[in-house]
Amino acid sequence: MEPITQGPHAAEAVLVGNRFVRACRRLPVDRTPVWFLRQAGRYMQEYREVRKHHSLVEICKRPELAAEVTITAAEKLGVDAAIIFADLLLPLEPMGLDFEFQSGEGPVVHRPVRTEEDVVALRTDRAGELGYVARAIEGVANHFHSTLGVIGFCGAPYTLASYMIEGGGSRNYIYTKRMMYNDSSAWRMLLDKLVIVLEEYCQLQVAAGADVIQIFDSWIGSLGPADYADYAFDASRRLVRAVQELGVPVIYFGVETAGLLGQMAATGADVIGLDWRQPLDAGWRAVGHGRAVQGNLDPITLFAPLEVLEERVHQILQAAAGRAGHIFNLGHGIVPGTPVENVQAVVRMVREFMSRAANG
Ligand code: CP3
Repeated sequence: MEPITQGPHAAEAVLVGNRFVRACRRLPVDRTPVWFLRQAGRYMQEYREVRKHHSLVEICKRPELAAEVTITAAEKLGVDAAIIFADLLLPLEPMGLDFEFQSGEGPVVHRPVRTEEDVVALRTDRAGELGYVARAIEGVANHFHSTLGVIGFCGAPYTLASYMIEGGGSRNYIYTKRMMYNDSSAWRMLLDKLVIVLEEYCQLQVAAGADVIQIFDSWIGSLGPADYADYAFDASRRLVRAVQELGVPVIYFGVETAGLLGQMAATGADVIGLDWRQPLDAGWRAVGHGRAVQGNLDPITLFAPLEVLEERVHQILQAAAGRAGHIFNLGHGIVPGTPVENVQAVVRMVREFMSRAANG
């Protein structure tokens, strides 16, 4: 859908298509779209109710529950996009790795990948088993009928490889980097296998109705620029391009990425997710203004008094300077204990800022 940006229909043009997807493509919008990383989570009473009766993985594997959790969060907040309720680690299972979420600990992979034989044993032919995520996306897409953007997602090769190798979260990524530096054939094979599985997984999600795919490279900030270039960039770039071939925009997100933004943009992703460790305008300059950005409020600002919160929200919107291609979001996910009313207040602040700017 091509926008009409000049002539008598210019004013209506910004209403064609939903504003989130338009912003991903740097098309003009009526106001800045807003959604939140981890908008369906334990900070929300409705989610905690569902979690009383079902484990995290159970919710993910039951499409009607995953769709319900996704829809409830998006409607309660009044956001412009709904991210499908799933988890980064789900593709590990069809690849042959068992994992579980231990309460308060995050994910634990029972038999981490440490040797070339472990990599050889990983399967790439069973991504179809993730069809339950596609069914959930169908439910969400049917519910919203294109009024909201529906976001599918997957982990990036580096971040998923680090979970597979470390067996969980990590501080120093020693096992990961040890394989990366010392056993480059195993490392490359691992990333290649991940790209195969993730590509098929994204294809399932897009076929089911995902408008946009976000690729989470959450832990990429553990690499310096030279290591990113030598060991992770190529696999990310290939995945980004493969997803774009499916016809949807790609958001590429990571944390502690200030030194990597130019390289992340070079993957070709349509939108780069920014964390909050530098001002949005500095981040956008590093990405380049020819690409959209998403971010970048510190999620812990949601615990601040409303005046402080509003000041920070306005600073971000001012830094975006009304340029096409800004999606308001956090710099990382909402944490448990966050007051829901403050998240809702941010949605109002983003809307009101725009209408005030439009009126005067
Ligand atoms: O609303 C949404 O954002 C959609 C749901 C979503 C979940 N996981 C559900 C979830 C998304 C987008 C993810 C992605 C994910 N999972 C990432 C990338 C995003 C990021 O934070 O950088 C990562 C690194 C994971 C792996 C993961 N899953 C960890 C480290 C944890 C434990 C951390 C914690 O908050 O406890 C999870 C568990 C998890 N995944 C929860 C949710 C709502 C919370 C635990 C629960 O409900 O029991």
